[in-house]
Amino acid sequence: MMPSIPAGATGNPYSVLVVGSGAREHALVWALSRSPSVSEIWAAPGNPGIADLAHVVDFSAGDVEGIAVWARAHDVGLVVVGPEAPLALGLVDILQARGIAVFGPTRAAAELEWSKAFAKDFMRRHGIPTASFGVFTDLSAALAFARSAAYPLVIKADGLAAGKGVLICATTGEADTAIRSLLLDRAFGAAGERIVIETFLEGEELSVIALVDGERIAILPPARDYKRLADGNLGPNTGGMGSYAPVNDLDSDLLRTVRDTILEPTVAGLRAEGRPYCGALYAGLMLTRDGPMALEFNCRFGDPETQVILPLLGGDLAALLRSCAEGRLDPDSIATLPGAAVCVVLAAAGYPSSPRSGDAIDGIVEALGDGALVFQAGTDVRDGQLVTAGGRVLSVVGRGSDLAQAAAHAYTAAGMIHFSGKLMRRDIAMTPALHPA
Ligand code: AMP
Ligand code: GLY
Repeated sequence: MMPSIPAGATGNPYSVLVVGSGAREHALVWALSRSPSVSEIWAAPGNPGIADLAHVVDFSAGDVEGIAVWARAHDVGLVVVGPEAPLALGLVDILQARGIAVFGPTRAAAELEWSKAFAKDFMRRHGIPTASFGVFTDLSAALAFARSAAYPLVIKADGLAAGKGVLICATTGEADTAIRSLLLDRAFGAAGERIVIETFLEGEELSVIALVDGERIAILPPARDYKRLADGNLGPNTGGMGSYAPVNDLDSDLLRTVRDTILEPTVAGLRAEGRPYCGALYAGLMLTRDGPMALEFNCRFGDPETQVILPLLGGDLAALLRSCAEGRLDPDSIATLPGAAVCVVLAAAGYPSSPRSGDAIDGIVEALGDGALVFQAGTDVRDGQLVTAGGRVLSVVGRGSDLAQAAAHAYTAAGMIHFSGKLMRRDIAMTPALHPA
């Protein structure tokens, strides 16, 4: 069945500006380029892959004033914000003040991501299931709490730390070191001035992303991502080495529980607290024996989850996101296509600690087709040659009638792309994506 087209989608086509420069934003630009209601796509700052589908404008994602002035001057009909940093800097507030439709939460609503202490207190206030916790700024109080806690213990920097601010400690000794490195040595700078210490939860993780218009929600197909660098969930934590969707091994009533106990109370709670939420609300969940619990919220689309979710959506993405921005989301308007998608991330030599740049990338054009998509992240063009320019270089996505076929397409394509030092996992969608223990 085709989705009902959100009101407004049949009006005049409009231009869309996507903020960000990763594979998530490349996937967003790709999906928006297939939206009938879009006349033109811009990206700030974009990347070489995005530049094939959109006009790129040279603003860093953090230049929120520059982006807002530019968007107004170019009569942009919808801004879609990819990463968290501009949300925390108030890009959405500035755009809204200028009367520009924007998909993303205000700085106040995005506090759910930029302060883990706020998120935990918020969940406690609203009875949202999450690990029990304490919030600390004082070193001796934190050390005393950790010495009497059960292990393993989870210690988190309060602020944004590019996915690196979570330390899982097996012993009091490790917890001592982690607490001192955050509160005393400022390992994460101001982001770690305040810390959350919480109980370790056991189970499998699940990423559930909902589109939200301030009040109503529409849940996208759940996805799983693989955070560890090496096969079998070994090696260091990364920004994500792969993902798949849909997740088929869920109890039939699990998503209803997630909606009723986590997503709806979060959106209602934010609204009641005067911070109505518009945008993608990402719940990072642990499926425990006691039911789903929230590990964290992100106030944006997940990366690399978005790369597998968007290829599974039918309909007009721009119209859907604009209906959120304008507070008129139809909760039944998500059209999911049959089949599955698997994303394999190709990372640079030395990732995640010290990724190497400047290696020539070949084979992308040959890899496209036969069910494969390639989204760029850490890439650059030097003397006409595409080269590596960041840790996670490419997201290679395979589509198929089921996960096995999608994974086969992803790995065939990934094998056709070459750069010196290429790193990838070979077990995406094959081994369970267990959380680090
Ligand atoms: P977060 O950024 O809070 O989602 O944490 C990053 C990762 O750390 C999560 O995806 C989990 O793998 C792990 N993690 C965070 N909190 C916990 C917890 N309370 N128990 C077990 N694992 C956790
Ligand atoms: N995939 C985890 C994140 O987007 O933060």
